[in-house]
Amino acid sequence: MNNIVKVYPPAVPALKQVSLDIAEGEIHALIGENGAGKSTLMNILYGLIPFNSGTISFKGENVRFHSPQAAVKAGIGMVHQEFMLIDSFTVWENTVLGAEPRKGLFLDRSAARERVARLASEYKLNLDVDASAASLSVAARQKLEILKLLYRDVQVLILDEPTAVLTPQETSELFRRLRALRESGKTLVFISHKLNEVLALSDRITVMRRGERAAVLENSRISKTELARAMVGRNVMFTVDKKPAEPGREVLKLAGVCEGGPGPGLKLEDMSFSVWAGEIVGLAGIEGSGQLELVQALTGFLSPGRGRIYLSGRDISGEDTIRRREHLSYIPQDRKRMGSAQSRSIVSTAIMTHHRFNKRLSGRFPFLLSPRCCREFTAELAAAFQVLASDTSTSFSSLSGGNQQKVIIGREVMLNNDFFLLDQPTRGLDAGSIEAVWREIIKRRDSGAACLLISSDLDEIFALADRILVIRRGRIAAELDPHTSSVEEAGEYMLGVHEKA
Ligand SMILES: Nc1ncnc2c1ncn2[C@@H]1O[C@H](COP(=O)(O)OP(=O)(O)OP(=O)(O)O)[C@@H](O)[C@H]1O
Ligand SMILES: [Mg+2]
Repeated sequence: MNNIVKVYPPAVPALKQVSLDIAEGEIHALIGENGAGKSTLMNILYGLIPFNSGTISFKGENVRFHSPQAAVKAGIGMVHQEFMLIDSFTVWENTVLGAEPRKGLFLDRSAARERVARLASEYKLNLDVDASAASLSVAARQKLEILKLLYRDVQVLILDEPTAVLTPQETSELFRRLRALRESGKTLVFISHKLNEVLALSDRITVMRRGERAAVLENSRISKTELARAMVGRNVMFTVDKKPAEPGREVLKLAGVCEGGPGPGLKLEDMSFSVWAGEIVGLAGIEGSGQLELVQALTGFLSPGRGRIYLSGRDISGEDTIRRREHLSYIPQDRKRMGSAQSRSIVSTAIMTHHRFNKRLSGRFPFLLSPRCCREFTAELAAAFQVLASDTSTSFSSLSGGNQQKVIIGREVMLNNDFFLLDQPTRGLDAGSIEAVWREIIKRRDSGAACLLISSDLDEIFALADRILVIRRGRIAAELDPHTSSVEEAGEYMLGVHEKA
């Protein structure tokens, strides 16, 4: 790609003459802060969005794809940062969509399902091909997107943050597969904020900064610190300072919560634990161990079959989500499906929930929202949480992934609630922003909030948590002290290597 210029209407200069060279058979990492232009550049290559000027050549020929179908046909495929799946379709239906094997005029259903199942097991993707896309966790959705590309047999695979919520085991399995793809002659472009992974996987690294190419690095003998500096332009610490916790009263209490859920076995089995004011409890576990059901039980999307949930001493088990939100701040793991209004303005997402509880949005009339107050509130939020947005009246979906996350985090912090539920709060954030979010979480803790942090990133759990609970098969399998235990030990409890009361 040579001197690519992209200006989003009306006048957002996303790419200022960016060039990118990808060699055949390499794994090329594309890194940069939130909003640097990584997804934009790859969406252009993939034919998803038009660009203003510049040229693209592929295998020596000048090309310009006007649709993703054209790009796929030429041999370039992409897995998006925000998923593009049809919820009511099964895994195999989503996989073959647009490239269905036919028997005469009709879709050859059994052949299609068969081929998808074979591919999934060949690449050890561990997906139930008959499950509906709506029922999948984020990690499973990521795997399904990858499966779609493998099915189409492309030569160049673009992966926009494929590991954002995978567990360490799933990530290393995926990397093994990606390396195998490289050995078989495929070319990979890999966008990631996880610098350890970039260093582990890539052959070369292009660093972008504010719509420009800042550097192209060979991945040999560069350190994580140097990489972060090239990206952010300053030194980034990968730890945060915090004082020891001073737990106060009991804020959240679960007493024997059980949940059935679809399929055999209980999703939550006799779940009992408490979170106290002024502490961060980290919940570690392999994806699918009951985290999803726990979050749903806490937020009121699912009323527990048995057991009770207390928030600040009040039994909330039977309460609906709206009532709970008066005391509950919540960062959902998939911001596209929950907690945002993608096609509405940034203001709309910023004021959600505040619109019910925050009097300052009403201006002079108590029962009406004042557009001016809402705008001012959003501007304040954007400034406090370093949201990179040119105009808050543009659609929420026009924000880069990381900036969307910052709006949601800012909104929830500003609710000032006693209990803070954080489900993968730094998914898709760059190293500098992660540091900022971690500080915010600690600040909330220090001002007395009880925080429950669910994360697939054990480094994050160890950096933030005052206590660690390991969830396994819907139960609390162990309680660990982050000061005296190790990531490896936590991993062993997650996998059930040893059991502990
Ligand atoms: N549809 C759009 N309309 C207007 N501006 C947009 C649109 N899409 C992206 N932008 C802007 O273009 C810039 C680059 O965004 P892009 O999504 O490419 O960043 P990114 O590097 O992928 O960031 P992240 O790491 O957060 O995913 C950002 O400032 C973003 O706000
Ligand atoms: Mg992006």
